[in-house]
This record gives sequence, C-alpha cells and structure tokens, in this order.
Amino acid sequence: MDARSIERVYDRYARFYDRVFGGVFEPGRVAAAEGLEVRPGDRVLEVGIGTGLALARYPKSCQLVGIDVSEGMLTRAARQVQSLGLRNVQLLRMDAQAMAFADDTFDVVVAAYVMTVIPDFRRALGEMARVCRPGGRILIINHFTNRNRLVRMVERAISPVCERLGWRSDLAIDDLLVGAPLRLVRNTRLAPLGMWHLLDCVNAKCDAPSPAA
Ligand SMILES: C[S@@+](CC[C@H](N)C(=O)[O-])C[C@H]1O[C@@H](n2cnc3c(N)ncnc32)[C@H](O)[C@@H]1O
Repeated sequence: MDARSIERVYDRYARFYDRVFGGVFEPGRVAAAEGLEVRPGDRVLEVGIGTGLALARYPKSCQLVGIDVSEGMLTRAARQVQSLGLRNVQLLRMDAQAMAFADDTFDVVVAAYVMTVIPDFRRALGEMARVCRPGGRILIINHFTNRNRLVRMVERAISPVCERLGWRSDLAIDDLLVGAPLRLVRNTRLAPLGMWHLLDCVNAKCDAPSPAA
C-alpha cells in the first residue's frame, strides 16, 4: 500500500480507532512510557501519533512533537491535547519517510505500532535517526515476525490481507534494523502473549565504525 492509501485507511479508522485498538495496544504504550527517561526540556518526537492515546503518559516538562499522515487521526489527537490541557505538544501532518525537521532536533523518538504500517520502513527509520541527536534514544513498539517457523508461515500467509487493512504482519526485527545506525540495548517482549516488542535503541549515527575484520 502506498502512503496515500495508508492515509485514507487511517482517516477512515480514526472514528473507531480508540475503541478497537486502544486497549489492545496499551501494554506497549505503558512500557514505552516507563522506559522513556525523559528529562525536563527534552525534545521528544512521536512518529505516527495517531489519535494521541499516549499523550497523557509523557511528562509535561518535555517538548513533544507528534506527527502523522492522517488528518483524521490528528484531529482526534488535537482533541486529546485540548481535553488534557497540554501546552507542551505540537501536532504536525508529516510523512515519517521524509520529515521536515533539521538533523539532531530531538533527544528521544518514539514510534508505537507504526513501523509495520509505513511502506518504506527503512527510510522512515533512517529519518528517525537523522532527526534524533547522536546518543539520543529511539523507542520502537511493534509486532515483529515470530521465530517459530509455523507461526511465521501463518504471518506471511496473512500479510496480504493485513496490508489491505493497513499494516503488514511479516516484518522481522533484523529486516527493520539492518543498516540502521542504531544500537539495540533492550528488546522486551510485551503482554499479551509476548506478541509485541519494545526495542530500546541508542542513536549511534556518529559512533566510529568498527575496524574491518
Ligand atoms: C496503528 S496506528 C498507531 C497509532 C499510535 N501510535 C498508537 O499507539 O495508537 C499507525 C499510525 O501511523 C500513521 N502513519 C502511517 N504511515 C505514516 C507515515 N508515513 N508517516 C507518519 N505517520 C504514519 C497512521 O496514520 C496511524 O495513525
């Protein structure tokens, strides 16, 4: 699915997203918030912020920017900002695959349940590393393909259906991280059933390359 189709799908989902995906995705949002370690004044970017279900979990002392391609989802997020009385949040309609921010703008970047939605997820991850400062944190919450062969076969088989619904089911952690300038420091499986992972990464874009073997 291309970016425009994804946008249309999530515009349609916006009305019922919280009821359908609110609870089921909550463990990831809680785990990400617990691991955030945001300091006062930190600049935080949430990629694919959706309806803003994680907004209440960020400390009010940080400067939060949320981006999304779907106007429908952003409208819901704006309502959430208003009802929570948040003054530290900016919402922007922007494609994660080509962000308008300067290099090193953010201290922390969070992407919850979005890497399997973005068509060119590697490009988006490259952008996340670009706009995050060296040594900053990048937290990714997502379903990744299972190591069990049978489960993996099922995930591959249903992927075309999932893609029509707006996400893919067959993304492996290695396929996402290959070539990205990130150091994975923690990979936590989340309830229920360990279906989702929280990848806690340090932005290593300025680290010296390891000497050739
Ligand atoms: C499954 S929802 C996750 C929403 C939210 N993070 C949550 O935890 O509920 C995926 C979101 O990513 C957004 N999205 C998809 N492709 C995007 C892109 N290229 N750039 C920015 N946002 C995108 C969708 O519009 C949707 O709001």
